[in-house]
Amino acid sequence: MSSREQLEQYASEVEKIIRKYLPREEGHQKTVLEAMNYSVKAGGKRLRPLFMREVYRLFTDRPESTAKGQPEGGMALEAVVEPFMAAIEMIHTFSLIHDDLPCMDNDRLRRGMATTWVKYGYDLAVLAGDALALYGFETAAKAFSMTDSPGAVGRCIGLLAAKSGINGMIGGQTVDVQLTGKTVAAGELDFIYRLKTGALLEASMMIGAVLGGADEKQVQAVEKMASCVGQAFQIQDDILDVTGNAEKIGKPVLSDEKNEKTTYVTLYGIEEAKKAVKEQSGKAQEILEGLPGDHEFLSYLIELLITREK
Ligand code: IPE
Ligand code: IPE
Ligand code: MG
Ligand code: MG
Ligand code: MG
Repeated sequence: MSSREQLEQYASEVEKIIRKYLPREEGHQKTVLEAMNYSVKAGGKRLRPLFMREVYRLFTDRPESTAKGQPEGGMALEAVVEPFMAAIEMIHTFSLIHDDLPCMDNDRLRRGMATTWVKYGYDLAVLAGDALALYGFETAAKAFSMTDSPGAVGRCIGLLAAKSGINGMIGGQTVDVQLTGKTVAAGELDFIYRLKTGALLEASMMIGAVLGGADEKQVQAVEKMASCVGQAFQIQDDILDVTGNAEKIGKPVLSDEKNEKTTYVTLYGIEEAKKAVKEQSGKAQEILEGLPGDHEFLSYLIELLITREK
């Protein structure tokens, strides 16, 4: 199977896992449940759960695997990572719902559909984002009943919180909105990218590593690799904001210009930005080479950061 076909197959498996964990749309609070599921079901590339599962497999697909309490092979082996795959996508989707709000980037298109606030109103979009963030943790906690390594699951829940919160995604988004329309220094921009985008990718891959039984040095290497992936990913996002096609990316182009954002493109120009994407994904590939397991598909995912058009 080619890597491309493999991506299609894996993405559809990930899709099923995410949907399995979505809340039922019922009860007096049905509308907020619909608003939560609306944006998750709208799709997206599902990169974070894909990366999580692949990193998990790096450490579990070996006979000498140190993963504890995992029966050999098949669904049972994968089960403990699944609630976390759904959880990271819920938390990522919460970040997108809030990022699109009129008080943030004020965008009307996301994943090829009207943004949550356009469809359900400003109030419901705030609540749906909040609810998805918390439901993500409720979902992750389901992993406790699927493992005999509750310590590893607990650590992963802590990682999810730290990388989503004030020293992670929310911290990055805060500096991003506060510096809107202002001159931003190169170091500040790197800080924003490392937190607003890098942190959730770090959480995805570190959780995969911890659940897979990686040792401390390996978890640190995975964090560094994910950080490079995050930088490359956000710079390519900035490039696509200028050169992309709204239909393909499923969100508006020139959103950054509209909001007077300093980006890698405004600071260094398109050509330098493209070079930086290559450089950061190259660094991620180098770190990957030092990790155990079969790298082929992960290496393909990292290569996609450079070539992606959506
Ligand atoms: C968009 O993330 C927000 C950024 C961090 C740049 P994605 O490009 O992964 O969005 P989806 O999940 O595919 O919609
Ligand atoms: C936001 O970056 C990253 C998030 C934490 C949501 P952007 O504002 O550039 O993301 P898009 O382009 O709207 O997806
Ligand atoms: Mg934004
Ligand atoms: Mg935005
Ligand atoms: Mg963007």
